[in-house]
Amino acid sequence: MNLQVFFFFSSSICFFFHGFFPRVLAEEHASLPPRGWNSYDSFCWTISEEEFLKSAEIISKQLLPHGYEYVVVDYLWYRRKVPGAYTDSLGFDVIDEWGRMIPDPGRWPSSKGGKGFTEVANKVHSLGLKFGIHVMRGISTQAVNANTPVLDTTTGGAYEESGRKWTAKDIGIKERACAWMTHGFMSVDTKLGAGRAFLRSLYKQYAEWGVDFVKHDCVFGDDLDVNEISYVSEVLKELDRPILYSLSPGTSVTPAMAKAVNGLVNMYRITGDDWDTWADVASHFDVTRDFATANMVGVEGLLGRSWPDLDMLPLGLLTDPGSNEGPHRTCNLNLYEQRTQITLWSMAKSPLMFGGDFPHITSTKNLKKGDEIIYWQSRKCLTDRTSEAQVLGLTSCADMKAVGWSSEALEQDPEQICWKQNLGSKHQTPFCLYKRESLLTSDEDITDKQQYQGKLQLLATDQPDFCLHASPKRKVTSKEHRRGSFSPCRWDANQMWELHRNGTLTNSYSGLCVTVNSAEAKVNSGGVRSWIATGRKGEVYVAFFNLNPVTTVISAKISDLAKALPSANLNESSCKYREVWSGKDYGVANQSISIAVETHGTALFVLNCASAL
Ligand SMILES: *[C@@H]1O[C@H](CO)[C@@H](O)[C@H](O)[C@H]1NC(C)=O
Ligand SMILES: *[C@@H]1O[C@H](CO)[C@@H](O)[C@H](O)[C@H]1NC(C)=O
Ligand SMILES: *[C@@H]1O[C@H](CO)[C@@H](O)[C@H](O)[C@H]1NC(C)=O
Repeated sequence: MNLQVFFFFSSSICFFFHGFFPRVLAEEHASLPPRGWNSYDSFCWTISEEEFLKSAEIISKQLLPHGYEYVVVDYLWYRRKVPGAYTDSLGFDVIDEWGRMIPDPGRWPSSKGGKGFTEVANKVHSLGLKFGIHVMRGISTQAVNANTPVLDTTTGGAYEESGRKWTAKDIGIKERACAWMTHGFMSVDTKLGAGRAFLRSLYKQYAEWGVDFVKHDCVFGDDLDVNEISYVSEVLKELDRPILYSLSPGTSVTPAMAKAVNGLVNMYRITGDDWDTWADVASHFDVTRDFATANMVGVEGLLGRSWPDLDMLPLGLLTDPGSNEGPHRTCNLNLYEQRTQITLWSMAKSPLMFGGDFPHITSTKNLKKGDEIIYWQSRKCLTDRTSEAQVLGLTSCADMKAVGWSSEALEQDPEQICWKQNLGSKHQTPFCLYKRESLLTSDEDITDKQQYQGKLQLLATDQPDFCLHASPKRKVTSKEHRRGSFSPCRWDANQMWELHRNGTLTNSYSGLCVTVNSAEAKVNSGGVRSWIATGRKGEVYVAFFNLNPVTTVISAKISDLAKALPSANLNESSCKYREVWSGKDYGVANQSISIAVETHGTALFVLNCASAL
């Protein structure tokens, strides 16, 4: 089945407008969404110093020029990797005399002799990168069990108040253990001077090590602990060293909850963990729209700005959640889904943290596109405004409903075959397919070519290598309403079509004809989303997302886009446009843009309109 969906942008559901921040603070933290690499998706907790530095080197060579500057060690870097140790085991962590976590010397050999992450941070800095670590809430159960004293960083000795020395048991709140790591960590009481002294002793040490970024876990979303976030933010603000402050995860986060913390941090997750399934990608559309609508993107943060975070990008080589194994499998998202993820993350101005292991060239290329996108300034999310859709089907060629196709011999190549009958609304532009140029590469092709003499292959307009096909799976009878779709082009009767003088388009396999069925014009529109943004040079970006399980033709009138984003100064009579992922140049738009978008895929147009130049 093939849906055709038109957006009417007269009223937009969600938007945010961004781009007029005065450039006052030269050293503003997180002036753009932070970008980098995080070890979790590919190594879970098991990464070693050697593996980490190897990844950092690759990031520095391939992605640093595109703004990916942070490399972050994710959780449990202090846990000894020995039999019995796992993500919620108790008693395998390396702590110092003050109950603070220090790197496992087995996995992080340079930490021996009390050096912590100093040498790792030095090496990361020498690569031109910044160094980040993951930390948990509060204090470890292991420190509480050992009842370690609390360090007073102002004296360098044990924290004393009311004539006594305070210890871990005084400050740990056992009833407030981290819900998803109950054996590992619990909150500390920030009302106590000793509780605050303990937290201060942690973050002072991170700064001494040369840390530039902390990802603070189990304090936000379902595990919200505003007291600890507020105090940690206060400590970070006072440090000489700039440290970006990130919160994780963000299960059940709403804009209202985020408003309590955005000024204290630089980024905060707004979803649970994202892994490489379509359901995970799809679940980010609504929440992203909500945060854009609430105008929460790029607003005030700790010593700079704050960014709603859609989580790491699980592309390339991966592990599994909670695993004791390093990278051992490839990403389960297909190419379209990966593009959709990067396009949405970038359109929403989410931080971009690559989570996969290298080498994965396609992932790297995709991430560079994300870099191009992230600089865009004002943007709007336009969704749910679908009023009409059309469905491509197959029917008997004698059926009058099959009549309506014609060939458009335009000056520009390639030639189009367009459907012009029975359009449900005057707003719709014709649905067009492109004739494929024949490409002969071998003798075999020539034989095939003769077999299909006079027949056409018809391209989906966005991807040069996808052809309209009738389903080959079942024997087709003329009474059945069959579904058409797109698949990689090949010499196959299912992909061969003949245009007759009477306006019918016949499939060579079944002898059935394609019809565009207006009777099914009303379909649920939830499956298609769109965003619009303006760029730095006056160009306009329009992203279409197809969440439907079928290929969908998505269209928008340029006059409607102009109404949706008046600042873009779109002149509907003179817009040239290009699709970013395919690199295809469409020339001058004739009042609307329209494209067949693959299931779970995206199309991202850049429009350049004369009046804006
Ligand atoms: C259109 O022409 C084809 C080929 O001649 C024929 O098979 C078909 O029945 C015609 N359909 C209509 C609706 O006239
Ligand atoms: C542009 O679209 C209009 C309305 O759909 C049509 O009348 C006109 O012929 C088209 N022009 C070109 C050059 O395709
Ligand atoms: C739009 O572009 C056309 C063709 O370049 C030009 O004639 C027209 O004046 C422009 N309209 C506006 C409002 O800039």
